[in-house]
Amino acid sequence: MRFHRKSADLTPLADISFATAARARQDREVNGDLVVQASIGTLCDDQQKIIAFPSVYEHFDAMDARTKASYAQSFTGNPAFRKAVADWVLEDHVHSLHHSVIATPGGTGALWASMNTFLDPGETVILPKTAWNSYTAMADHNSLQVCTYDMFAEDHFNPASLQQAMTAVSQVQDRIVFLINTPCNNPTGYSLSDEEWETLIGLVNRMAETCPVVMIIDIAYFDYVNDPSARSSFCRHLDEISDRVMVNILFSISKTMTAYGMRCGASILLAKHQEDVRQIEIILEKTARLTWSNVNNAAMECFAWAVSENRDQLKKEIQGGVRLLKERSDIFLKEAADCGLELYPYREGFFCTLKYEDPSFAAAMFQALMDHHIYTVKVTGGIRIALCSLPVSQARGLAARIRAVQDQLTAD
Ligand SMILES: Cc1ncc(COP(=O)(O)O)c(C=O)c1O
Repeated sequence: MRFHRKSADLTPLADISFATAARARQDREVNGDLVVQASIGTLCDDQQKIIAFPSVYEHFDAMDARTKASYAQSFTGNPAFRKAVADWVLEDHVHSLHHSVIATPGGTGALWASMNTFLDPGETVILPKTAWNSYTAMADHNSLQVCTYDMFAEDHFNPASLQQAMTAVSQVQDRIVFLINTPCNNPTGYSLSDEEWETLIGLVNRMAETCPVVMIIDIAYFDYVNDPSARSSFCRHLDEISDRVMVNILFSISKTMTAYGMRCGASILLAKHQEDVRQIEIILEKTARLTWSNVNNAAMECFAWAVSENRDQLKKEIQGGVRLLKERSDIFLKEAADCGLELYPYREGFFCTLKYEDPSFAAAMFQALMDHHIYTVKVTGGIRIALCSLPVSQARGLAARIRAVQDQLTAD
């Protein structure tokens, strides 16, 4: 006898980040500062306390209780929020495209909606091989097949691998849907350069000549680029897409406002023709109404205020986070190079990733590091180090500790 639908997946959810963080907390109670907590994906200060931007939360605390109690003004999000997201992300870079912003419960909600909108069950989505673990899980949950591409050829973006995946999919499907996560890629910290963006758009337009393309761009960490003036510059390249391409940007306030728990984000749709944007908008509005209904009203209002009335202060607070990440990454990456640890190319952002392409060695390293009180996250192709939650005092010396574990494992 069963009470659930036949197709339900009964494998218990194993979210490595949350489970590892819980284990690290227990270890810390016994072993104190020996324990390195490099698995948590939220920005923490050097005392290992989560950072909550003061200006955001002073305003949030002062908001009228009725604003917090209210439903949103619409299933697609509050108009002020939708406009604020477009202004914050697109700036004045996009001129030739129509766009629409649909509020979602976080970047996760935007991702789920994209996996549920552009493809039918059984069809294939193209994802980066080394990626945030949720992508494949989410595709699977939506009954999609996954085809992966290598994001890197040595230290650079690998358009050839993406082209290969696109070609394969175009032979069996009448739409190509692929995802890219840049800038500040999770888990590697890579950001596509201007030239790489140009190459990517050229590739997308060429492929679209024979098969329409949906390009999903996850920008969850884009505010944490080292050069704040360049954070939205990728949008300039979007202006070059052809009318056979649709762009879906996944936006989140989780990192932008240090508001992970508020569950607020957006799906930004862009295309040459208004009717293409409108069709997807209709689908997403129904998805919203029939799943989460509407997004946290106070979070939307707070974001709209923060990026207009409080813009300079918010940017200052974000820059404080960028400085922390830079200090930690400078230390860890230099020491990693000195002791010969191999990493994927890191430019900026919350995470960097040690390269272990052999899955069984990666699994053994992950376990051995935990046995040595170093808590990380295992991803396809490596081990992720969360610079965002790693205090400077623990960033120092960490590479050598990892190298010692690796040497021991290799010798065994
Ligand atoms: C790459 C990436 N995209 C999207 C998200 C979604 O974040 P949220 O649902 O908190 O907005 C995360 C969160 O960890 C992430 O790492």
